[in-house]
Amino acid sequence: MSTRPNPLAEGLGLRRRPDPCALVVFGASGDLTQRKLLPALYALAYRRLLPERFAVVGVARTEQTTRQFVSSMRRAVKAHARDPYRTDVWESLAAGIRYVQTDFADDRGEDRVSETLERLERERGAGGNRLHYLAVPPVAFETVVREIGERRRAGDGWTRLIVEKPFGHDQASALELDGVLKRWFAEDEVFRIDHYLGKETVQNMLALRFANGIFEPIWNRQFIDHVQITVAEAIGIEGRSGFYESAGAVRDIFQNHLLQLVALTAMEPPIDFTADSVRNEKVKVLRALATPGPGSIVRGQYGRGWVEGEEVPSYREEPGVAADSVVETYVAAKLSVDNWRWAGTPFYVRAGKRLARRETTIAIQFQRAPHPPFAELAGGGLRPNVLLVHVQPNEGVSLAIGAKVPGAGMQIRTVHMDFLYGGAFREGVPEAYERLVLDAMLGDATLFTRSDEVEEQWNLVDAIVGGWRRHTPRMPNYAAGTWGPAAADQLLHRDGRSWRRH
Ligand SMILES: NC(=O)c1ccc[n+]([C@@H]2O[C@H](COP(=O)([O-])OP(=O)(O)OC[C@H]3O[C@@H](n4cnc5c(N)ncnc54)[C@H](OP(=O)(O)O)[C@@H]3O)[C@@H](O)[C@H]2O)c1
Repeated sequence: MSTRPNPLAEGLGLRRRPDPCALVVFGASGDLTQRKLLPALYALAYRRLLPERFAVVGVARTEQTTRQFVSSMRRAVKAHARDPYRTDVWESLAAGIRYVQTDFADDRGEDRVSETLERLERERGAGGNRLHYLAVPPVAFETVVREIGERRRAGDGWTRLIVEKPFGHDQASALELDGVLKRWFAEDEVFRIDHYLGKETVQNMLALRFANGIFEPIWNRQFIDHVQITVAEAIGIEGRSGFYESAGAVRDIFQNHLLQLVALTAMEPPIDFTADSVRNEKVKVLRALATPGPGSIVRGQYGRGWVEGEEVPSYREEPGVAADSVVETYVAAKLSVDNWRWAGTPFYVRAGKRLARRETTIAIQFQRAPHPPFAELAGGGLRPNVLLVHVQPNEGVSLAIGAKVPGAGMQIRTVHMDFLYGGAFREGVPEAYERLVLDAMLGDATLFTRSDEVEEQWNLVDAIVGGWRRHTPRMPNYAAGTWGPAAADQLLHRDGRSWRRH
């Protein structure tokens, strides 16, 4: 008997190709360009998803020729791309790459960027459409935006900007950055990256909710007991003390990724999947989030411990961290979305570094069955249904349901119905940056954050951080390799609940 091929296994490479364009990467010698951006461009080239006529100009301070830049990018692609290295794919991409060495603040250097870009556009037929990627530290942001804005030419094709996080340090600084952008660019020309939105499983949350008839009728306070969102990292700060000491977990993860996951989980169905419809619904959730009181938020910092079999230092012992630092490496909160759908259904969220393992999950815990006729037979093992979205690793979705144990009697146990991306689709899961760079070339901002979302996110974070000034817990308060401070467990125990552990 022959089996029919799985129609889903074809993968998702069926997208329209963008118009000819040039990508200008500011910060081309940096970590992001090497580890994420160039490998993403290579993956797009590999699948023939880049424009037919395409060019890249890299800009940074490091002294190097185009030839040296191209060979360091080839090494980066070999080291970080998800596809095998193919000389023909690389060479077709590399033929359109140039490098310009300059300080962003140097006008003569920026003249050379413009000249190189114009020449390359003519050579490659890139058509005058320009996507600028700001892979630069926050201090360089304004200078680069000004350079691009002042040199933009009217009527020559589109101009777009991809802006990296962090977008500001608080609401006031985010508004200031927006002011800088708005001097030269319209909102639909600005693409603020939150790379979580580029992850397949995060988008699958939208598919799960809005492409299936069975979930939406029960996606509310009547059927859902609570939601848990976990963004756990096993790694420490990886030498980024300069950034982390002034950010902490609340600015690094909670302000953007975590709140975006809350918004996607809680949002109303958009009328369509255009950027504004989706973002209109997300921003309503962000506005409906009440500021958690001091009893509903917990922060922590890791001490020494063991992670994945290795002894690791405490946060305060990391190079560049103050010996008495009280910066949080962990944050947990009980959030309430004060609207008709969610009133009374808490969203427990947590994010931390040096936790027991790397895991990002959204767990929707449904109410218990109202009348459990099998209670005395269940041996206490029957838990409420949980829909678990694995954002990373092992991308997929699983539903915990009660099932009868084979054999005599009526014993019930929790089992899992699993969908794993790796098993259902032949095409591997694309890196978030592939999707996002392609979307920006196509002018689709659905998976990027709009200025009003960023503003609402900071509004909440400012209120939380403001509250923290009155009282600082003793730090460190959790050992590396554990699941965070005891107070985070108590946050749920008080409500008769506990964090998921698997
Ligand atoms: N790395 C990541 O995985 C990651 C993830 C999320 C967000 N981000 C954000 O992305 C941005 C870049 O991060 P990164 O890790 O790639 O930083 P990075 O490794 O420090 O690279 C910064 C780049 O900017 C260039 N640069 C800085 N100031 C300059 C100036 N005045 N003139 C010319 N070039 C200048 C540097 O050039 P030279 O080194 O040649 O001087 C380098 O190419 C940051 O805003 C970061 O927060 C990064």
